[in-house]
Amino acid sequence: MYTILVHGGAGSIPKEKSEAHLEGVKESVRAGAEVLKSGGSAMDAVETAVKIMEDNPIFNSGTGSVLTFEGEVEMDAAIAYGPNFDFGAVAGVKNIRHPISLARLVMEKTDHVLLAGQGANDFAKLMGFEYHNPITQQRKEQWEKYRQEFMNGNYKDWPKLRELFKAHPEFLHGTVGAVALDSHGETAAATSTGGVFLKLLGRVGDTPIPGAGTYATIEGAASSTGLGEGMMRVLLTKTALDFVRDGLDAQHAAEATINYLDNFVGTDAGIIIVDRNGNVGIHHNTPSMTWAYLKNDMEEIVCGI
Ligand code: GLY
Repeated sequence: MYTILVHGGAGSIPKEKSEAHLEGVKESVRAGAEVLKSGGSAMDAVETAVKIMEDNPIFNSGTGSVLTFEGEVEMDAAIAYGPNFDFGAVAGVKNIRHPISLARLVMEKTDHVLLAGQGANDFAKLMGFEYHNPITQQRKEQWEKYRQEFMNGNYKDWPKLRELFKAHPEFLHGTVGAVALDSHGETAAATSTGGVFLKLLGRVGDTPIPGAGTYATIEGAASSTGLGEGMMRVLLTKTALDFVRDGLDAQHAAEATINYLDNFVGTDAGIIIVDRNGNVGIHHNTPSMTWAYLKNDMEEIVCGI
């Protein structure tokens, strides 16, 4: 028995881009499922699935990440291994192609859980990662437009940024994630992101924080997407897996988690969960979130937006 489920980010996906987003998540699931089908691990499957999305410029992770206020890209990523709560993460890493693979190396090759900023980049160099510029022309043009709008506003502080997010929900879409259960009964989760447009340099979101954007336990695995500032405050993926531990199946846990967030924080968000029985949970409070999954007994990938 195996299951792999991925998301391509919550937010507002323009109609004309829907097909490309759906193709992107399906390609990711296909690659992850190949790993699981041949008896591979959930860890390898989620890393493979996320790498595919990091290479797809339509998503906000790896190549195609959104730009900070200063026009740079700083990426966060994390990977979690359910059987023993292992966790590896990087925050604010620059100019590499696959932050998710660096996060995995933090877990496997160091005694740490999270490396940030220059330290993460130094570690990437040590691990043989080559220089890669993740800034695409399209993101640069979006950045110029949004920054202009922001500067034209009479802003004093970041609450104005929040208003800008409301007017342009497309600011948020794009973080990618994958969760899997493998044929050995092991779970894993992986998430990768460029964060949010116009973030301050050094801002870290929910993605690399254990239990916020990424988490896995023996009961399941979860990955979230949306505005990290809210999700960090309720430890969204930990909350989700607490619901699973307490007896909810993955879908009910996903719904309960987003309701919980809505009741206490009210942030735009989406979550995907796989539980130890291979059930999937998908829920979001944003206009859209791209997702796709495949289980061992299914002929075709199921996807949605
Ligand atoms: N959820 C991605 C971020 O806020 O950075």
